[in-house]
Amino acid sequence: MRIAFSQPALPKKGAVVVFASEAKAGPKLTELGRSLDKSVGGAVTRALAASKFKGGKGEAVGVLAPGSSRLTRVVVVGLGKPADVTDLIAEQAGGAAVGEFKNGDDDAAAALVDVPAGCKLGVAELAAHFAHGATLRSYRFDKYLTKEKKEDKPKLARLTIQVSEVAAARRRFARLDAVAEGVFFTRDLVSEPANVIYPQTLAAEARKLSRLGVRVEVLDEKKMKALGFGALLGVAQGSARPPRLVVMRWNGGPRSGKAAQPIAFLGKGVTFDTGGISIKPSRGMEDMKWDMGGAGVVIGLMRALALRKAKANVIGIIGLVENMPSGTAQRPGDIVKSYSGQTIEVLNTDAEGRLVLADALWYCQKRFKPKFMVNLATLTGAIIVCLGPYHAGLFSNNDELAERLTGAGEAVGEKLWRMPLGTEYDKMIDSKAADVQNISSGGGAGSITAAQFLQRFVNEVPWAHLDIAGVTWSTKGSATAEPGGTGFGVRLLDRFVADHYETR
Ligand code: BES
Ligand code: MN
Ligand code: ZN
Repeated sequence: MRIAFSQPALPKKGAVVVFASEAKAGPKLTELGRSLDKSVGGAVTRALAASKFKGGKGEAVGVLAPGSSRLTRVVVVGLGKPADVTDLIAEQAGGAAVGEFKNGDDDAAAALVDVPAGCKLGVAELAAHFAHGATLRSYRFDKYLTKEKKEDKPKLARLTIQVSEVAAARRRFARLDAVAEGVFFTRDLVSEPANVIYPQTLAAEARKLSRLGVRVEVLDEKKMKALGFGALLGVAQGSARPPRLVVMRWNGGPRSGKAAQPIAFLGKGVTFDTGGISIKPSRGMEDMKWDMGGAGVVIGLMRALALRKAKANVIGIIGLVENMPSGTAQRPGDIVKSYSGQTIEVLNTDAEGRLVLADALWYCQKRFKPKFMVNLATLTGAIIVCLGPYHAGLFSNNDELAERLTGAGEAVGEKLWRMPLGTEYDKMIDSKAADVQNISSGGGAGSITAAQFLQRFVNEVPWAHLDIAGVTWSTKGSATAEPGGTGFGVRLLDRFVADHYETR
């Protein structure tokens, strides 16, 4: 969908979006909304009175062919109580508007953007975030639907944002649109099936970032063998597809001095997780094509940061493997030697993400001495039991880092919930045969013991682990995402970087 900005002018034909807020007396159109309503003889107000629409956040209602006008459709979107309108609510409104257009035939629409009386948000901010929400909602992964008829596809292709502060709105939107590009890249990658996206092809996708000025380095199997990545390679050894480790570097920050120290993001990139010899049940196994979701977020994030030329030095590292059962696969009980030197007893080959990340984390801190490391991983089914699809699990050894991540998540609507770490949980993964075992031998707390395992491969450096297993793929969809890959984490981490780690 293409977004354009222009000065407000009452449209006489076509499709229009207007805003309403929630008041005691019922939904209240903004000033531009009221002008439009007047131009159609009050048909919008009458239609609202006949509907359940309250003007609440996330609500949208479509009014067809109002009055005797040549308008095809007026979509009224709710903003809730004027004093409580936020960026996020503006994005939900944009998403809800696009959702409403799915029912219609319009290929273009104009949104009349003004703020309701008493709203703290500026009009340019409202407009930019509305457009961002609309953009995020308009994404669809339909490249393999070769028989879908054109008339059955969503039609809306152009959205003109009419707003008094055109230049300011455009400027704000450009930055958000860079982030949307990152989100879409991530959604594309998690949506692709595992016969298309596997370690080599995912590394090739990451390499494309070099066009944007990101330095990309790919470690192959030989290099990882030489370095001693026994944990990652143990997972990869059952697959015909060789593993990769990709290092991406965006150097938008200071070149020297303490402020030049990079920050690092790491992602689990299991391009397909069968479970290995500890094989998963067949039902639902297709979901494991998005077990590279953490890596997908890191790639999308690097793209967003590069597109908007973030003033920060950022490292992205992704460990890419396919977890398969075969004659060469690792067996339950195998003991591998990780890059850190610690030996690992692999009691369950389906607890593979932590093995991949163990070597990636160690490599990252050893080579780059980052200010902190944040890893993302679709690590445990147990986090879905804990938090469902509404929060990702956050584990951290550092309160400041945890608070900053949580705050960024609140701000963009990608919520995190902090979970505990502790010595009792750590003991649960002590092994009799090696330094550590990759699962606990009973006792519950599956997401926490997985995090404890990762922490054994983290030195003194501040670190956070986001378990995104429940939020990477959405079966229901939301205001700003159709069902499918969400890109959860890209907007969060972009905001986290912008708020705390960019030089101005
Ligand atoms: N990739 C899975 C976790 C997962 C499950 C992600 C469902 C998304 C949806 C991970 O590799 C895994 O298999 N974890 C096991 C760990 C267990 C063997 C200790 C799990 O959660 O069952
Ligand atoms: Mn697994
Ligand atoms: Zn997995």
